[in-house]
Amino acid sequence: MGIWTLDDIPWSELDRSKVDPEILRTIKAASLVEQNGADYAQYLCNVFYDDPEFQEVARRWGEEEIQHGQALGRWAMLVDPDFDHAKASERFTRGFRVKLDVRDSVRGTRSGELLARCIVETGTSSYYTALGEATDEPVLKAICQRIAADEFRHYKLFYSYLKRYLRREHIGLWERLRVAAGRLVESEDEELSYAYYAANENAAAFDHRRYNNAYAQRVYTLYRKHHIERGMAMIFKAVGLKPNGRLNLLAARIAWAFMHHRAERLERRAA
Ligand SMILES: [Fe+2]
Ligand SMILES: [Fe+2]
Repeated sequence: MGIWTLDDIPWSELDRSKVDPEILRTIKAASLVEQNGADYAQYLCNVFYDDPEFQEVARRWGEEEIQHGQALGRWAMLVDPDFDHAKASERFTRGFRVKLDVRDSVRGTRSGELLARCIVETGTSSYYTALGEATDEPVLKAICQRIAADEFRHYKLFYSYLKRYLRREHIGLWERLRVAAGRLVESEDEELSYAYYAANENAAAFDHRRYNNAYAQRVYTLYRKHHIERGMAMIFKAVGLKPNGRLNLLAARIAWAFMHHRAERLERRAA
């Protein structure tokens, strides 16, 4: 288990008047993805089949991710009593399954797998930091602060194993860039959009583009420049580049401009 539990959350301080309905929709989606932690932990245990130390770490990590799903799901149910987190999780995993019958990482190497995990934890730690700063609802703020700290700790954990495996596998900078870029592009893959759909839609059929845009439109507007700069520094560090150099600043500026532009375009389209 993690270093906090659901009992540490000040549930009685919930203030429904401060809940943004759009944020509620994204929280419902995030709660389903986090709840899927056991499958991801199993996948990592399969890939690192002869490394019991890392398998133990992966299992504990999976439990912490599930706890994130539980905390967010409970918050969403308190705000919206019609939302059934367990049912929505079932619906989500019926339509989206992590491929578990593997012995090799989909990234090609174990270092690639660990690097991809660092990219994911960068994304989640930035997301919950941004969300925690954006919301005025005290319980959600308290949950996001705890989750953001966990995600940053997860990043450091995977980074320490990445360094260890890189000493054995020696994958070059270009390969590391390829894996990192591949994982970044996947952040717009089916998982999040399907979670958004499974959590919020009951009648319509799934449409990847539609729900991906709906999710992105709500989430991209939460980020501020400092979140992107910090996230880019974490990505640079994981890839093996200087996290505080000029290249990092330039990449952060480009990423910020891209997100800003995309958020504006999606908002115009939705209007
Ligand atoms: Fe998480
Ligand atoms: Fe995490």
